[in-house]
Amino acid sequence: MSNRFRPDAACSVASQKGGAGRSPRPTAGLFFLALLAMFTGSSALSGCVMSEEMKRIDQVKKAQRERAMEGSTNLTGEQIFIRSCNTCHPSAKAGMGPSLEAMNAKFPEDQALKQFIRKGKGMMPGQSVERINNDELDNLITYLRALEFSK
Ligand code: HEC
Repeated sequence: MSNRFRPDAACSVASQKGGAGRSPRPTAGLFFLALLAMFTGSSALSGCVMSEEMKRIDQVKKAQRERAMEGSTNLTGEQIFIRSCNTCHPSAKAGMGPSLEAMNAKFPEDQALKQFIRKGKGMMPGQSVERINNDELDNLITYLRALEFSK
């Protein structure tokens, strides 16, 4: 934390010095020169470069956090199914995974079905809360329960 504040202090000291040495009533040109001196003077200070670097690290961390949350955005059950299940259970039929026809018989309780989806099994990946939030999981269960299997 102390590292973080020192560079900023160095920046403000530098800009005050830059302004102090100038004429009290600067013309537009002088004023521009003063600004230029402040700018070049402060960016040459490693402390200021450091604080720029810290800002950038903060920005990267923030972007990473936002990206982590992008996996879940309150999608409908059908959207979740298409995104996370359809590759292996195409239209709930057999693909890499089995047909979901036996699902209702095997998982009559929603709670057990939810647990199965969260944990996964064998080749089937578990779905974390980051991937499918609790509301979305409810939506998905409603969607799965409403599936109809002709024949
Ligand atoms: C990477 C492929 C894959 C994905 C993605 C996948 N599954 Fe599966 N699923 C499988 C496989 C393989 C099995 C069989 C697991 C076993 O019994 O070993 C399975 C089993 C199941 C079963 C049990 C079926 C039964 O009769 O035993 C259900 C229900 C199920 N998946 C639902 C889902 C849902 C809902 C999703 C989306 C959130 C999903 N699966 C995503 C591969 C997948």
